[in-house]
Amino acid sequence: MRILALETSCDETGAAIVEKKNNSKAVKVLSNVLASSASLQAQFGGVIPERAAREQIKAIIPVIIQALVESKFRGSTPNSPYEKFLLANTILKETIDAVAVAHGPGLISSLLVGVETAKTLSFALSKPIVPVHHLLAHLSANFIRGESSIVFPFIGLIVSGGHTDLLMFESYSKFKWLGGTRDDAAGEALDKIGRLLNLSYPAGHEIEERAAKVEQTTFAFQSPLINSKDFDFSFSGLKAEVARFVSKKHLTVRLINEVCHATQAAIIKVLIKKTIRSAKLYKVNNILLGGGVSANQKLVESFKSSIINNKLSMQIFSPEKKFATDNAAMIGAHALLNFRPIDWRKINAEPELYFD
Ligand code: KG4
Ligand code: ZN
Repeated sequence: MRILALETSCDETGAAIVEKKNNSKAVKVLSNVLASSASLQAQFGGVIPERAAREQIKAIIPVIIQALVESKFRGSTPNSPYEKFLLANTILKETIDAVAVAHGPGLISSLLVGVETAKTLSFALSKPIVPVHHLLAHLSANFIRGESSIVFPFIGLIVSGGHTDLLMFESYSKFKWLGGTRDDAAGEALDKIGRLLNLSYPAGHEIEERAAKVEQTTFAFQSPLINSKDFDFSFSGLKAEVARFVSKKHLTVRLINEVCHATQAAIIKVLIKKTIRSAKLYKVNNILLGGGVSANQKLVESFKSSIINNKLSMQIFSPEKKFATDNAAMIGAHALLNFRPIDWRKINAEPELYFD
């Protein structure tokens, strides 16, 4: 089965062509195209929903055309836009079996662009359509690794710009939400702290790079809720602590790097402690990470060393970096692994979609 998948939940416009052979678990990505308005949003230090949606509308058809053409011709694609359009049209009609779309959670105006485009394609071409939960798709990004060894049950930690959630999965249709953030998400905290330090938006990647330049810091920030008995998180206090700290200081490059190091360490510490405690409690050995913050290699390495140092028989999985942040391949992967098409008239953009 071959799927055209769309992702437009925030400021990225993604289209991907993904494939899975019958009786195989492997999801193959034939193309994965992304147009981002992040640099435009960066001028405002964050995403302005109306502006993001306007960029999505401009980008969606060119991105779909590019994904279709690249799925067949890697490298040597026709130059003329008209030839490309004709080619994409033929590929769409002849090779695509179904359409998948992220229908929530996210920004309503952005989601609508992907959802209405997908519904139109499904209706016009009589192809099945699969609505996909954006957050579950972040975890399915782990299955784009070829013949996968990941099995249920697993603990899923979703850490993105909008969400921080911990869940226990017996299967994709049977899972339990254990806890989540009470205020800012981990990525949101990184982005806000990045703004305090005059870093570019989104700041997670730069914070990781700067943190890696520092061996140790003479100061540390607190990991909020680290000793609470629940599985909740809270990161707005960390942002306030960093704001108080930097307000009294002259920001040199060295100090900015140290603040990045201490911020990243405080976030990683609480994420690991609560995730491993949940895995022990539910006697689950597989831990899957997902979401933009799981692109952070220090987070992944720290999970691995914590498992080794504590002599635990757990396995940690994280998506390949390009599939960790928002992309359409993960939407397609989730649809292929949970192929549940529904009538296109019943699909709506659901900005508040959650885990209930
Ligand atoms: O999943 P995602 O692309 O979008 C949402 O669904 O929210 O996550 C974006 C978040 C941003 O907050 C960004 O700063 C963070 O992921 N991020 C990172 C890294 N790359 C992106 N955080 C830490 N380390 C990274 N390397
Ligand atoms: Zn996301």
